[in-house]
Amino acid sequence: MRPIPLFVVIGTLAACGGSDVSISLAPPPSEAASSKGGHGPGALSDGKTIFRYDTFGDETFWTDTLRMHEVIASGVSPATALKVGLKVDADALPAAVKQRIADGTVDLNSPATTVALLKLGAVVGVVGSVNERDSLTRVGITCALCHSTVDDGFAPGIGTRLDGWANRDLDVGAIVSLSPALTAAQKAVYGSWGPGMYDPRYNIDGKNTPIVIPPAFGLRHIAREVYTGDGPVSYWNAYVAITQMHGHGHFADPRIGVDVNNSPPDLVSSKLAALRQYQLSLEAPEPRAGSYDREAARRGRVVFQGVARCSSCHIAGSLSDVNIGRLHSPAEVGQDPAYALRSATKLYRTTPLRGLWNPPQLDGPYFHDGNAKTLDATVSHYEQLFDLSLTDRQRRDLVEYLKTL
Ligand code: HEC
Ligand code: HEC
Repeated sequence: MRPIPLFVVIGTLAACGGSDVSISLAPPPSEAASSKGGHGPGALSDGKTIFRYDTFGDETFWTDTLRMHEVIASGVSPATALKVGLKVDADALPAAVKQRIADGTVDLNSPATTVALLKLGAVVGVVGSVNERDSLTRVGITCALCHSTVDDGFAPGIGTRLDGWANRDLDVGAIVSLSPALTAAQKAVYGSWGPGMYDPRYNIDGKNTPIVIPPAFGLRHIAREVYTGDGPVSYWNAYVAITQMHGHGHFADPRIGVDVNNSPPDLVSSKLAALRQYQLSLEAPEPRAGSYDREAARRGRVVFQGVARCSSCHIAGSLSDVNIGRLHSPAEVGQDPAYALRSATKLYRTTPLRGLWNPPQLDGPYFHDGNAKTLDATVSHYEQLFDLSLTDRQRRDLVEYLKTL
């Protein structure tokens, strides 16, 4: 059978009235999307719902300004979407739709299928409104776009959501660069970032030093967030929601000369507490059995705390010294100052080491700008910087230990 757009499948299933399949099985993004003003008591108290589905009204940017709904409807098939790293939430797909995808009877090369997936609320981090004629009328993004991926349980790029995991396949720049609203110069910048990278200050200061999208898990005991330790979790959440996602609210920080007030009503501030609570509940993943050498890791921990002196900054417990109020100059830790100079602190925070090795989703790159492609390279960085003399075995053991964090 020739593959057919998913809409036809959904339509047929609905017409059959099959009890096992219904498009209403999907999490209803329209209920969660704040653009409809659905933030009354209780409606959005759930931080997980906010993290996954709340756009803070950013459709006004992604739809009205960037016209991404047209870009998607005219040219982004599921195959293309998966190629730029977008993920599909298999749990939002009715069983029969999954069956059709498995059978190859859904056309994954048709943009109409992408629109159908959006209608099902199945594209991680992208919320779409689809009208009764199956046209995509509005589109917005959520926190999950960059900070969730899937376990590939159904197929590569299609599976159960993993909230808090950085999406290192996601090429945000390539996606944004498709917008007809950008100048050629802007498109060139966005197009230069590559997968897993994003510059959350480019639209503020015009500079271009993209950084690795970090995980949003394992932060419960970390006093200050982001690579440069600019502030606590809600500070940064408000920054991103308003200045990057273009949600509606007011964010100002005189330290970086930012004052962005996207027109009222404020769809951000009332949600920050619940959002924070959800993020802080996200644990770093346990290392997968078999993905590292247990004995070597045990020895590596001794190296980490001993001769390699890692724990002088990656202090036992949180594996960061940020909680004792320490940040580091770029020179002290051998990092490029360019990104720090654009931040509030001009310094780097000791990254709380967590979830460093969970392939295929999490396998580097490391350091804020990704200058170390592998864990091995991070160790070499410190060997040179601090003139460590590690034996080959110590070096290997240290890497195995890092894999367990
Ligand atoms: C377009 C991609 C993108 C989106 C959307 C996004 N973030 Fe981020 N997030 C980043 C990048 C890049 C950083 C690193 C910023 C830095 O360190 O300067 C970051 C940093 C963070 C951190 C700090 C992690 C750490 O190690 O301290 C948290 C927490 C976070 N984001 C949560 C959120 C939440 C909540 C939302 C939704 C309101 C969100 N992000 C939306 C890309 C994104
Ligand atoms: C002087 C303080 C200091 C010492 C000592 C130190 N680190 Fe770091 N570490 C940092 C800082 C600051 C960063 C963030 C740098 C960046 O992102 O550019 C970092 C980042 C890292 C990262 C990257 C994490 C990620 O997700 O990007 C790894 C891995 C790491 N350190 C391992 C080690 C190991 C192994 C040692 C010992 C050999 C060590 N560190 C010693 C301060 C230190």
